[in-house]
Formats: sequence, structure tokens, C-alpha cells
Amino acid sequence: MPEMSATARWFVGRTNGPLYRRFVRRWLLQSLKLPAGPAILEIGSGSGDLGLLVHELFRPSRLVETDHDPAQVTATRASFVRALGRVPPEVAVEQADALSLSYPDRSFDAAFAFLVLHHLGGHFGRKAHESFERGLSELDRLLKPGGQLVYLELVQLGTIRRFLQARGYVAVARHRTLGLLERAIWRKPG
Ligand SMILES: C[S@@+](CC[C@H](N)C(=O)[O-])C[C@H]1O[C@@H](n2cnc3c(N)ncnc32)[C@H](O)[C@@H]1O
Repeated sequence: MPEMSATARWFVGRTNGPLYRRFVRRWLLQSLKLPAGPAILEIGSGSGDLGLLVHELFRPSRLVETDHDPAQVTATRASFVRALGRVPPEVAVEQADALSLSYPDRSFDAAFAFLVLHHLGGHFGRKAHESFERGLSELDRLLKPGGQLVYLELVQLGTIRRFLQARGYVAVARHRTLGLLERAIWRKPG
């Protein structure tokens, strides 16, 4: 079973939460409009910091937090317990590979992929392109018509844009930080 390195896990667990609470919070509040009680999926939930933020901001009727690394699944669960005293009934924290998810087509109003697409399949270079497309195909399959894909990513930004535009997605918000890190929201047609 593939796992994050201990160093990467340490880094992600300590830095992303504060950054997300400070910067991503404001961006999501301004830019992401969802129906009341949305169904939301997160892939590569890691420390669970983004999931907690999404839970607080959007009050989902269903929030599915997934990661393929069992240690990260435990970390996500622990974050909910620390912050809320439990994993609330509308939240499911599950071990799952983002390249092959078992949820039915058109299940979610929004899907979050923060700093995870470049991990899919563990590939860099030529194979990264295929992994990106496989991961994006899964998210496309799982989003309802009009659903929104929200991501933070550093690499293969052109691959992501071309994939989504070819399927009729429209960019709702796209920003680059330091010319490198893209945060974006795309709406699926329908
Ligand atoms: C850099 S961390 C980002 C974690 C979190 N999204 C954040 O922004 O703080 C990448 C996460 O993706 C997970 N991951 C990598 N490949 C995956 C896959 N194929 N399926 C599901 N999760 C995966 C890792 O276990 C890790 O928790």
C-alpha cells in the first residue's frame, strides 16, 4: 500500500492547516457557492485540516473524506475528534485510492483535491500525465452536473486545464500564487 514519506507527512500536518485557515478560508468564502446541504468529496484528505474547514464553511449533508494512506485516514479522523469531539454522522472518513473510487456516478456537488493530484499513481514525468487524467476522470464521473471541482496544485496545470475544458468545464475562479501554485474552482456543465 503506497504511503506518504514520514517527512512529507510531518510537513503537511504542520503547515497546511494554519495556511488553509488563514488564506484558503477567505478564498473559499468569496469564490465557492454551493447549494444548501451539499454532498462533498475530498480526495487525499491528509491531516484533515481542509475537511474540517469545508465542514465548517459549507455545512454539508454528506462529507466523504478519503485518503489511500491508512495513517492519513487516522489523522483525518483524529482532527475531527479533536475539533468537534467526534466524527459527526454526516462525515465519513474512508481509506480509498483516488484513482478508483467506489461511489456512484454523479454523487457529489463538490470535490476537493488539494496538493494530491501530483501524487496519484506516484508518477512524475511522462506517466504523471496519465495519472492526472485518470484521477480527473474519476472526479468528473463523481461530480453531479453543475458540480464543482476545487483544487490546489503545482504541476501539470496545463494538463488539468485542457482535460476540464475538453469536457465543457468553466473556470469559476483561478489564481496563481508566486506564479506556481494554482488554486482553482471549475464548474461541470449541466
Ligand atoms: C501533500 S498531501 C495533501 C494533504 C491534504 N490534501 C492537504 O492539502 O493538506 C497528499 C495526500 O494525498 C494522499 N494520496 C496520495 N496518493 C493518493 C491516492 N492515489 N489516493 C488517495 N490519496 C492519495 C497522501 O496520502 C496524502 O495524504
